[in-house]
Amino acid sequence: MKQPKRYLITSALPYVNGPLHIGHVAGAYLPADIYVRYLRSQGKDVVYVCGSDEHGAAITLRAKKEGVTPREIVDKYHAIVKKAFADFGMSFDIYHRTSSELHHETAQEFFKVLEAKGAFTKEQSEQFFDEDYQQFLADRYVKGACPKCDYKESYGDQCENCGSTLSPMQLIDPRSTLSGKKPVLKSTTHWYLPMQNHADWLRTWIKEGELDGKEHHLPKDWKNQVLGQCLSWIDVGEGLQPRAMTRDLDWGVKVPVKDADGKVLYVWLDAPIGYISATKQWAKDHQKNWQDYWQSEDCELVHFIGKDNIVFHCLIFPIILKAHGQYILPTNVPANEFLNLEGQKISTSRQHAVWLHEYLEDFPGRQDELRYVLCSILPESRDSEFTWKDYQARVNNELVAILGNFVNRSLVLTDKYYGGVVPALGTDLESAVVTDLRAQIKASIEKLSSNLQRYRFREALAEAMNLARIGNKFLGDTEPWKAVKTNPGLASDVLHLGVQITAELGIALQPFLPNACERLHRMLNLEDAGWEALGHLNRIAAGHQLAKPELLFQKVDDEIIEAQIAKLAKQTKPSNLAPVKDEISFDDFTKLDIRTATILEATKVPKADKLLQLTVDTGVDQRTVVSGIAEHFSPEEVVGKQVSILLNLAPRKIRGVLSQGMILMAEDAEGKLTFVTPQEAMGNGCTIR
Ligand code: MF3
Ligand code: ZN
Repeated sequence: MKQPKRYLITSALPYVNGPLHIGHVAGAYLPADIYVRYLRSQGKDVVYVCGSDEHGAAITLRAKKEGVTPREIVDKYHAIVKKAFADFGMSFDIYHRTSSELHHETAQEFFKVLEAKGAFTKEQSEQFFDEDYQQFLADRYVKGACPKCDYKESYGDQCENCGSTLSPMQLIDPRSTLSGKKPVLKSTTHWYLPMQNHADWLRTWIKEGELDGKEHHLPKDWKNQVLGQCLSWIDVGEGLQPRAMTRDLDWGVKVPVKDADGKVLYVWLDAPIGYISATKQWAKDHQKNWQDYWQSEDCELVHFIGKDNIVFHCLIFPIILKAHGQYILPTNVPANEFLNLEGQKISTSRQHAVWLHEYLEDFPGRQDELRYVLCSILPESRDSEFTWKDYQARVNNELVAILGNFVNRSLVLTDKYYGGVVPALGTDLESAVVTDLRAQIKASIEKLSSNLQRYRFREALAEAMNLARIGNKFLGDTEPWKAVKTNPGLASDVLHLGVQITAELGIALQPFLPNACERLHRMLNLEDAGWEALGHLNRIAAGHQLAKPELLFQKVDDEIIEAQIAKLAKQTKPSNLAPVKDEISFDDFTKLDIRTATILEATKVPKADKLLQLTVDTGVDQRTVVSGIAEHFSPEEVVGKQVSILLNLAPRKIRGVLSQGMILMAEDAEGKLTFVTPQEAMGNGCTIR
């Protein structure tokens, strides 16, 4: 693979329908920022673009909810999001907007080229329409049950529960999110992307890393989950399907052809083009040529996204870029999984989130702590979890106790013994020890670099931190605070190296902890340096005067953490659990005869999709119970299960079968069912109360 001359790095353009939370940061932003800082540190030609995604139903529905115009929504949240990113220290070269004129022009121009090349098919079809609102209902305007997982609150474009991408027509029991009513069907014309025609080259490109017969990327460099998702899109089930690229809406980029009144580009057509318009604006502002980045084989394009964006960045956008003919395709799309928070999914609507702008207010000047913790738990290959206790532990036990402690000991001792003038490296320290130290540091730095190149930021950070661990062990083994009295030459050798390792940390940690590294450089009284200076333990000359050391990190106290936990508990709205029922008396309760029982036999009730007929050993007898669980469990699955049964429920005939009692089930808000089984196997007929 040849070395690219330039890099174009993108982070998903966030919808500005609300503020950013730490899940966003861990998904598409922090990893990209680390990668970009690493590239810049090597002196690479890199442009890092991002901006607000201001179209689509995410915005218009929010506007409706707040009772304002879409324009007001995007203006409000664009400002909030942009400021939060800036305060957090995201190093975008540009943060653009898709509502800008330049973007509209760019997207329209793109559409026209595709249209002229015959990349679309135009089709008339029946679409959902809300008669009360006189509006077609695309994507998120329709809700219903997911055909894949039965989640009742699925959107028409995507199920947030199982992640499936859907079309509104697939929803079971669809309803309009405007009027809440069942939509009607009405005919309309749209431009479709015939994705099925692109399956072959997409498969070869993604799986073999080959494009137009040439090597394009190393397939093993792509994450397994990304490859897997793409290939299952292409090859599982019905495979790729035509996808509408226009919508009947009045907010968005107008379809730039005749007879398309009231139609706009599908938000997932216009938004990724936002990367291009952002690059154009940046180029304009800096007298650069945007085509060097988008239309040159010398450039490497990398999209940082969350896993719900994979299909758009790995299939749809590449089809569009290739159909245009002049654009390069991404070399990699290192998508992240999701970050959970205190045991639950992060949810904007339930306010179960740590908002970035609020973190920055509550923890002023402590951006690097959040960067550190999030980088340590990035959901790189599976979902991961943020908890405030873990935040505190990582800051206190790692940033403070390992990194801060090492830096502080090296600098304070040098200050104390030598007035901050870095001693020379003599020969009092055994040369084998020095050689070993150098080798350990070199090995860690090599792993650090290779992990960064492979987008493994968690491991990369661990290797960078390992330098501080090595340093701590070195100080502990050599004890310069003792040697200074007994063997001053040894102490000065050790502290010379301690200061050198500190200077190494100033480079190695820069992509992760840019602010701490700035402070570190100030304390070292040293100019910042690039990656090539790393690993030689020679950044600082003997005789160099250090500045006064200060603490690099502060401990996070229990009160701060408790306050955050309380704040989250207070703001989080309950999930849509069933409402609490009216009070009953203790006598009412004791009337229920609930027992342990075991299912002996199970068969489907003919012509009843939901029902299983069970034979149950209740301890007191064997009886028949009809249970509405057939859509969740097969007969084979339930035989032998120990369950709970309400024994004294009046018998009822269900589909001609006499049901004597009721099997108790736990059901969550998404309709998932599970048996209520005793913790440990018990005999049948034991009472439950
Ligand atoms: N706004 C989308 C989201 O938040 C991401 C858009 S990425 C882009 O999921 F490529 F379309 F810009
Ligand atoms: Zn689903």
